[in-house]
Formats: sequence, C-alpha cells, structure tokens
Amino acid sequence: MSLAMVAYHRPVMLAEALAFLDLRPGERYADATLGTGGHAEAMLRAGARVLALDADPEAVAAARGRLQGYGESLTIVHASFGELVEAAEAHGYAPLQGVLFDLGLSSLQLDEEHRGFSFRRDEPLDMRLDPTTQEVTAADIVNSYPEGELARLLEEYGEERYSRRIARQIALARPLRTTGQLVAAVEAAVPGPRGRLHPATRVFQALRIVVNHELEILESGLEQAVDLLAAGGRVVVIAYHSLEDRIVKEFLRRESQDCLCPPGILVCQCGHRAALRLLTKKVVEPSAEEVRANPRSRSARLRAAARL
Ligand SMILES: C[S@@+](CC[C@H](N)C(=O)[O-])C[C@H]1O[C@@H](n2cnc3c(N)ncnc32)[C@H](O)[C@@H]1O
Repeated sequence: MSLAMVAYHRPVMLAEALAFLDLRPGERYADATLGTGGHAEAMLRAGARVLALDADPEAVAAARGRLQGYGESLTIVHASFGELVEAAEAHGYAPLQGVLFDLGLSSLQLDEEHRGFSFRRDEPLDMRLDPTTQEVTAADIVNSYPEGELARLLEEYGEERYSRRIARQIALARPLRTTGQLVAAVEAAVPGPRGRLHPATRVFQALRIVVNHELEILESGLEQAVDLLAAGGRVVVIAYHSLEDRIVKEFLRRESQDCLCPPGILVCQCGHRAALRLLTKKVVEPSAEEVRANPRSRSARLRAAARL
C-alpha cells in the first residue's frame, strides 16, 4: 500500500488525553504508541518535543510520512514500549514531562490486508506487531499448543466462556493457516450468534495478546514511564479491553499508595512509597458524540496520574 493511500487512524479521546498530559511547549514527552501519529501530531502542534515509539514497522513508516514536517521536535523510534527507558536515554529524552499510551491496534492495522488481525477477511494467521523481530505467529500457536493449553489461554486472555469447545474444534481442524479457517472453527464450536460481538472477537483478542506478550509488556512499559517522569509529569493511558484496563487501574492504584502491606499489619513492613497521584479517581470514557462519530472509540477507557 502506498503511503498516500493510508487512511489515518482517528485519534481517540484526543482532547481528554491532551488535557491530562498538561502539555507545556518546549518540554519533552513520549508517545509510546505512535500508530499513524494522530495524538503525536496534536502534541507537536501544542509545542511539545515528542519521542514516539511503535513496535510495528508499517505504523512507523506511515507516521514518518505524515509527520515529516516537524524536524527536530520529533524523534520516531521503531521499538516496543518495553524499551522505553532505553529509547528515552539514547535520544536525550530523560526525564520526561509526560507519557501517553494509546493501547491496542490502529485502524491501519485492522483495515490493512495481510496482518491477520481482523476476522473480517481471510488472510494468513499472523498477528505479529513486529514481524522483523518476532518469530511466533498466531498460526504457530493454534497449530502447536496442546488443546488444554489453548483452552486456558482463550479463557485467560479472551475471557471466552466457550474456551474448551473452541480449543477442541481448533484441534480437530488443524492445521489452520488463515483467519478464515480460524473463524470457521470458532463458528462450528459456539452455539449461535452472540449479541453485538462477532463470535471470534475474544479468540482473536486472546491470540493477539499471546503472540505479542501484550500484558507483560504493558506492565513493564508503565513501570518504565513512571521511572522516566519528572516531578509533576503525567502518565496517561487509554485501554480498549478489560484485561488491559485492569492492569492499568491496579498499577496506578498501587503506585499511588504508600504501604502495600496486607490489612491487619500495624507497622509497615513493605516500605513501599507512592510515586504517583491519581488524577482519574473514576475512569474516563469517550463522549456519546465521539462514539457516534467513531464507533471504534466505544470501548476506550482513559486513566491518568501525576508523578509525585
Ligand atoms: C491505537 S494505536 C495508536 C494510535 C495513535 N494514537 C494515533 O493517533 O494514530 C496503537 C498503536 O500501538 C502500537 N503498539 C502496540 N503495542 C505496542 C508496544 N508494546 N510498543 C510499541 N507500540 C505498540 C500498535 O502497533 C499501534 O500502532
């Protein structure tokens, strides 16, 4: 696909994200999930200096094309946010005044053919964010994991109630090479339509999380962001499914508390000290107007905190 044909992802909760980042012209920020650069461009327009990371080389190429006019205010790095500290130190971006995580996939990845992220087209079962460094694809997982292990990961990472039936059907249908074959296996395993959700939604979510180690990397990325923040600096996270949002919520809650000892311990033994002040006591959701204009924003949940 030529860059001119790239339909840019519509940034979600843009005004809210910018407000919580509390952008200050000339200060350093990181966009840990560049995508096609919608949030990054708004940060640059507000006068921020931006270090932008994305694990996906195709997202990086699209964003480079879009943001080429920003010169030295912008440094784009093809890397996972699991390497945030390394990237920030290498490019003179430590400490930071704010870090934005806009998790999940961009419209570019969902709509582009050949990545295997969408159950709406028949294409190779890949799902790697970074095919240049990752070897294991979704096809490798569905074809090689024991049935019981597959059921476990569908339940744990997809919160899929028919995990055993689906794992059984996948095992019977092996080898599976394409998203279409996987969708057919899921449809054969589940009893009838399932409300608004496509029957394969949770299976695709689970495989994507496993292929890309998403939950472990998220935890590590959040820790690195806090380590990099200057006093008063902000961390802002937009999550799109409950597993991610739970990790964000628990992380922010934990890091905004002193002692983490179990109840009943009179004198603190853990020595934990709060590093953050929570800015969103209640999770922030997109407005009805935004959801109407951009249905993909529907599941977004924003949380933010400031470094003490
Ligand atoms: C929802 S999109 C971001 C969209 C972006 N805010 C915009 O306005 O265009 C999420 C992006 O995060 C990237 N991503 C997911 N996990 C990542 C990770 N561990 N490290 C870096 N980028 C990651 C994806 O490749 C995708 O491009």
